[in-house]
Amino acid sequence: MTDRYAVIGNPIAHSKSPQIHAAFARLTFQDLTYEAILAPLDGFERAVRDFAAAGGRGMNVTVPFKLEAHALAGTCSPRAEAAQAVNTLIFSGNGIQGDNTDGVGLVADLTRNLGLDLAGKRILLLGAGGAARGVLLPLLEQQPAQLHLANRTADKARSLRDEFVARAGACPLEAGGFDELAGGQFDLVINATAASLADEAPPLPAGLYAPGSLAYDMVYGGETPFMAAARAQGAARQADGLGMLVEQAAESFFLWRGVRPPTAPVLAQLRGA
Ligand code: ATR
Repeated sequence: MTDRYAVIGNPIAHSKSPQIHAAFARLTFQDLTYEAILAPLDGFERAVRDFAAAGGRGMNVTVPFKLEAHALAGTCSPRAEAAQAVNTLIFSGNGIQGDNTDGVGLVADLTRNLGLDLAGKRILLLGAGGAARGVLLPLLEQQPAQLHLANRTADKARSLRDEFVARAGACPLEAGGFDELAGGQFDLVINATAASLADEAPPLPAGLYAPGSLAYDMVYGGETPFMAAARAQGAARQADGLGMLVEQAAESFFLWRGVRPPTAPVLAQLRGA
């Protein structure tokens, strides 16, 4: 029997996950299918349970259901607990397990594909929503010198930091608003805000980019307003989030199949398309 997997979200038509997982399956000779499922906004749990009951082995979860997936999973990995969000569901005799591969996907893209060693670096993370929360723990595990969380609404960044520190213990995590960044310098600036989706760049003070720095947008699809602004402000390199998308998919694939698919050819294929 061919094993079934799916990505579930709303909207879902734009998802590249079916194409990515089909390529992984080909490259690793795994017998599986991977489909896209559109769930009604009030019908997430039902759609998951129907898919599992029909023999599904696992699912990826995307916008807007990652928090609901966390609530639905019977057990969650520590990184999913830290994120308070689940992007990977595993169905087994033990029920529904939840995990979150977004943060390790980001770290894999930064370190392996973009060749950045994060240890000792000064990192600025923009945003305090689900996207930022999901990558905090894996970024801190790389032992940066500093991780500064900045958000349009400063209090949201501060409460995310306080909540995180209360759970994870002491760590080099600072938080505040965009205007408090003036005078700071960073080796890596990651945009985890939704600004790119509105075709805007977060309003950052000038001078934030240290020599050799990288500006990384978690959104993908070419140069975003954040990347263009970073280029103008002297960031040495800019990257969009396509590599993170492929790497988080590879980590989910590994959780389900126990096999690590090669990501470089899949990323190259998507970039070429
Ligand atoms: P997600 O789950 O994708 O992180 P979210 O929880 O809605 O989405 O959070 C969106 C984030 O993008 C927030 O940090 C938001 O800032 P506020 O907390 O001040 O709302 C940020 N954001 C959205 N539009 C923005 C813009 N135009 N400029 C800067 N930040 C923006």
